Amino acid sequence: MDAPFEAVAVEGELAPGQMKKIRPAGRRLLLCNAEGDYYAVDEMCSHEDYSLSLGCIHGRKIKCSLHGSYFDLASGEALVEPADEPIRTYPVKIDAGRIWVDPT
Ligand code: FES
Repeated sequence: MDAPFEAVAVEGELAPGQMKKIRPAGRRLLLCNAEGDYYAVDEMCSHEDYSLSLGCIHGRKIKCSLHGSYFDLASGEALVEPADEPIRTYPVKIDAGRIWVDPT
């Protein structure tokens, strides 16, 4: 796999609805399995400095457990207030049995 992708998990490591904190290039990201597809997003909520890893995945969305905002995992869009800024999303690939994320 070409740089800047980094291997962050083994394929099959996360069941649907599970997530994992990852640190490619020193960034604080989450790898999420949503309905069998993988997404990489910022770990921290855009509303306040709170980890989305403490929330949960619903369908293709992630919920912040502090104030209840939802974000689209594909686009990062904030779907439910109080958050009104998106979270950033990152390209994900599966190759050679591993999951790779481009954190740049
Ligand atoms: S910190 Fe996430 S919704 Fe407020």
